[in-house]
Amino acid sequence: MDVNVKVENFKSAAVDALVIGVFEGEESTRSGIVQTADEALEGAIRRLVDLGDFEGKHKQTAILYTNEEVAAPRLAVVGLGKSDVFDAEKAREAAGEIACKLRDLGAKTIGIPTPSDAPPEMIQAATEGSLLALYQFNQHKTEGLDDIKELDAITFLVSDEAGRSSQEDAAALGSAIAHGTMLARDLSNQPGNKLTPTILAEKAQSVADSTGLKCEILDLADLKEQGFGTLLAVAQGSEEEPRFIALDYVPEGEERETVVFVGKGITFDTGGISLKPGKGMEEMKHDMSGAAAVLGAMQVIGNVKPDVRVVGLIAATENMPSGTAIKPGDVVTSYSGKTVEIINTDAEGRLVLADALGYAARYEPQAVIDLATLTGAVIVALGNLTAGMMGTSQDLMDRLQAAGEKTHERVWQLPLWDDYDEQIKSNTADVKNIGDGTAGTIAGAVFLKKFAEGYPWVHLDIAGTAWDMKGSSYVPKTASGYGVRLLVQLAQDWESKS
Ligand code: BES
Ligand code: MN
Ligand code: ZN
Repeated sequence: MDVNVKVENFKSAAVDALVIGVFEGEESTRSGIVQTADEALEGAIRRLVDLGDFEGKHKQTAILYTNEEVAAPRLAVVGLGKSDVFDAEKAREAAGEIACKLRDLGAKTIGIPTPSDAPPEMIQAATEGSLLALYQFNQHKTEGLDDIKELDAITFLVSDEAGRSSQEDAAALGSAIAHGTMLARDLSNQPGNKLTPTILAEKAQSVADSTGLKCEILDLADLKEQGFGTLLAVAQGSEEEPRFIALDYVPEGEERETVVFVGKGITFDTGGISLKPGKGMEEMKHDMSGAAAVLGAMQVIGNVKPDVRVVGLIAATENMPSGTAIKPGDVVTSYSGKTVEIINTDAEGRLVLADALGYAARYEPQAVIDLATLTGAVIVALGNLTAGMMGTSQDLMDRLQAAGEKTHERVWQLPLWDDYDEQIKSNTADVKNIGDGTAGTIAGAVFLKKFAEGYPWVHLDIAGTAWDMKGSSYVPKTASGYGVRLLVQLAQDWESKS
């Protein structure tokens, strides 16, 4: 779908529907575009409000049918809520709500009358909200395809040239960010048999090819040669080969600081020999959502080109039970040389991340952030609305917190005091891969901390936010694409401390 900006009087725009945002409160119909539209429709908006059928409450909608003064057959009003609490998130939600409503009515093209001084952040937010709300995943359906409705274009209609170029940039940015997020959703929604580690690596290569990123893919032989012992341990039970993917965005000009994103890419998690129960196991096709967020973010970064070097690392494998699978009690050696006693083969995410975090040190980065659907415990602690955050750098956590507020992909910090280190002490090896059963999310982070040495590091446990993230107009019940917008915002806002 196309999002663009056009200089055109909205009354003459040949679109299937116009959309006008209206704040709560009487006076909001008496100025600006709402007033102009109301006059064109001979007071129809005022009558709607006076009757009490529409109050401008956030996400409230109403459709009006126009007269000959307006070319578009429909004019939709969408509530923006109280003007003093309006922000980018409210704009995303309102845009998503009305875009879906109009799509369901059969509209193909939407025009949004836009004042020439409209803040670019709001254009970006409306673009993100509508594209993300319109997202559907129908790749594996062969029936009912004729009933699927889609919008073709959304156009911001501005009355004069002033501000046009910044508005075009904002729409393009919002569109790039939404497409990165939708890429992450598509990958995460893909069943395990359609997205193997090999296929994930091919996708990464094609993202790199289309955005000019460098891409290096390590196959089974490379991983053996380079000593990716904990990734290989998880992979050894599977017929599918593992892959390690490194994407690299290097800004032009002088050398910049380096930020590394690391994603857990378990394309299916059965639990291995510590097999998961059958009920709901199909959801473990999403267990590569950290990898999906990293790949989605790298696509956006390749397009928007921030002033910081960004590396995306993905450790991809299946976790399967078989005659060749790792067993509880096995000891394996990680990339960094530390040994791990595997107590539970279902704690596989931290194993594949251990190697990736060890590998990350070669970039001598100023920040490393890993995203992983690591523990069910984070859903118990925080639910589905926020990721659990733990790390060794308060500065980096503060930056993520700020990026989370802006994007509404929020994070919430949990403690990572040294006292918790007891949890992963092993009698046999340097560490064991699970704790004592309490504070499961923290225990996972304590394990990762052992391998995230030599750089500032933050771990985001996205098991709650990667899917089932209920309650928002533009986030579906299945894969959310959580993390793409957060990581892109962090990269865009990156300012070196040195
Ligand atoms: N992929 C799961 C975590 C998960 C659970 C994500 C539910 C989303 C929803 C992870 O590999 C896992 O199995 N974690 C175990 C850790 C335990 C064995 C220490 C868990 O959470 O039970
Ligand atoms: Mn598991
Ligand atoms: Zn897992």
